[in-house]
Amino acid sequence: MRILERLDELAALGDRIGYSREEDAAHELAAGWFRAAGLEVEVDPAGNLIGRVPGGERQVWTGSHLDTVPGSGRFDGTLGVVGGLEAVERLRYPGLGVVVFRDEERGCAGSRGCVARPDAYVELHIEQGPTLLRATAPLGVVTGIAGYVRGRRTFTGTPGHAGTTPMDLREDALVEAAEFVLRARETARGIEGAVATVGQVTVEPGGTNVIPGLVVLSVDARAPDAERLDRLAAALEIEEPIRTEPSPMSEEIRATLRAEIEALGLSLLELPSGAGHDAGILASAGVPSGMLFVRSLNGGISHNPAELSSSEDIALGVDVLEGTLRRLAR
Ligand code: HGY
Ligand code: MN
Ligand code: MN
Repeated sequence: MRILERLDELAALGDRIGYSREEDAAHELAAGWFRAAGLEVEVDPAGNLIGRVPGGERQVWTGSHLDTVPGSGRFDGTLGVVGGLEAVERLRYPGLGVVVFRDEERGCAGSRGCVARPDAYVELHIEQGPTLLRATAPLGVVTGIAGYVRGRRTFTGTPGHAGTTPMDLREDALVEAAEFVLRARETARGIEGAVATVGQVTVEPGGTNVIPGLVVLSVDARAPDAERLDRLAAALEIEEPIRTEPSPMSEEIRATLRAEIEALGLSLLELPSGAGHDAGILASAGVPSGMLFVRSLNGGISHNPAELSSSEDIALGVDVLEGTLRRLAR
């Protein structure tokens, strides 16, 4: 299956942080595939790669991202690019396009900076969770994408000697930071559908025998709607917050995806996305957008090398994407 071979080629490039040489290499690889498919290839000012079938009144794009998190799996983002190209190559309708957005993982810099915008956008992506697996459904139609606030929290103390400073005289920044991490967990647990994550910790001065004087934590807080996101972000007092509003998917595209899934006689499931996606940025910018999820196996794990989807489910996903693009491009 050509899609799996191309996913292997991308995986061989290793982790690909946004705007890194490794992400450049992945974009070059994809540009070669786009050219071989006879698409018009361009790179926009934000560094996004776009392959288009020339002509057409309406621009209907699919695609995703080729950057990864550290310790990534092989399907997050790549499936939407390689699977999207497959569907566009089959159809070759004027106005169809495949876009590869830069730096999705650290905040969607590419799609936020996207100058050229399509008339409609449909993204194929792994679910990155257990819902489709539990429902024994190969595919799912995304209803909306959770909003998130990303930022940091800073804790200051007094660096001191680990051996001579009595416990009651310490101002240990890391202890205070640790208490925040536990508080963030309890706060998110108290808001239905909310999640909060601290993924990065910086400790200074960083000596094993020095009481930490400065700790900076990354904070990633998400919730299904604006009201709950407000409550969560306020409680966590996130510094320099970058906020992305919860974004509903286009009703028309959802209905088209549902019809294509039903035409294949597959069970139908609609679900929200707890993960952020470029489709959410485009939807927030007014582009009618939709997402089709492919079942994640291995318990739904993602942002982990154990990330896995089956070739059968991937093939079904590309078939439904092809049918959806066909209807939207007409
Ligand atoms: O973090 C996310 O939600 C996505 O994988 N970028
Ligand atoms: Mn992704
Ligand atoms: Mn991701």
